[in-house]
Amino acid sequence: MAIQRVASKWEKTKALHKKEHISLYIPETRKYSIDQMQEMLDTYELVYIKPDRGTYGIGVMCADIWRDDIDEDAEPKFRLQFGTQSEIHPNIESLHQSIEEKIGTKPYLIQKGISLLTYKRRKFDIRALVQKTPNNTWETTAFIGRIAAPHRIVTNHHSGGSVLPIEDLLGPYLTPSQFLELYKEMKNLGVHVASELSRKYPRLKEIGLDLAIDEQYHIWILEVNTKPALFPFKWLQDKSIYKKVRRYAVAYGRLKSAK
Ligand SMILES: Nc1ncnc2c1ncn2[C@@H]1O[C@H](COP(=O)(O)OP(=O)(O)O)[C@@H](O)[C@H]1O
Ligand SMILES: [Mg+2]
Repeated sequence: MAIQRVASKWEKTKALHKKEHISLYIPETRKYSIDQMQEMLDTYELVYIKPDRGTYGIGVMCADIWRDDIDEDAEPKFRLQFGTQSEIHPNIESLHQSIEEKIGTKPYLIQKGISLLTYKRRKFDIRALVQKTPNNTWETTAFIGRIAAPHRIVTNHHSGGSVLPIEDLLGPYLTPSQFLELYKEMKNLGVHVASELSRKYPRLKEIGLDLAIDEQYHIWILEVNTKPALFPFKWLQDKSIYKKVRRYAVAYGRLKSAK
């Protein structure tokens, strides 16, 4: 039977919200509308706006409150960022109009924005790969750090991002024991998310978690991919990781042979 794929971020988020030990890790997410955006911007300094069924970082935008450094008495305005561009809007209606022009009638989500840690002033997040083992259990098999291209708000490879081992990215922020703690937490989280999602989607065999780490070193699940790319793990120096990734992928039928 075919491996299960689920495109809608909204459906996956809803499924994960049922479990409190997982929902703690999910930034508040709603269906996009001008009213929801107003409420979200009243609550959070930064929000992300993204297609419900998007991939590769395409169509992802973010909005925040923008204050004029020179005229401190001026009313706060709204900044919208997308690609490498940014616009300043005087009010929420103007911000919404610009967003609507870009999204048309496509369903979009609005999510609490996480202030990502940076590497050489570029934002980074983490991809965790979770796979079914040949023994039919779930295992978080690999991690890779993803760094946004300069001035970009997304880290996706297809949007100009590059990759580095998570040790290199988190090393400057964490002591070795803090790193180990976070590493274990991400590994466990991967398994919990996979187990929970596979209750609703029993033919899942692999998932990719996009994990953000904020300035308090809290882990956030930005999205769960049901067709995660495997090739980035090839670049890890420890070749045994990619070997295992392939071996598992062959066992559940994603790849043909373990070359
Ligand atoms: N809530 C958020 N806070 C901070 N960054 C985000 C948020 N949502 C998405 N991003 C950034 O945008 C990228 C793409 O968003 P994602 O939800 O993974 O959609 P896609 O399916 O296009 O990969 C993420 O990898 C991350 O870099
Ligand atoms: Mg993603």
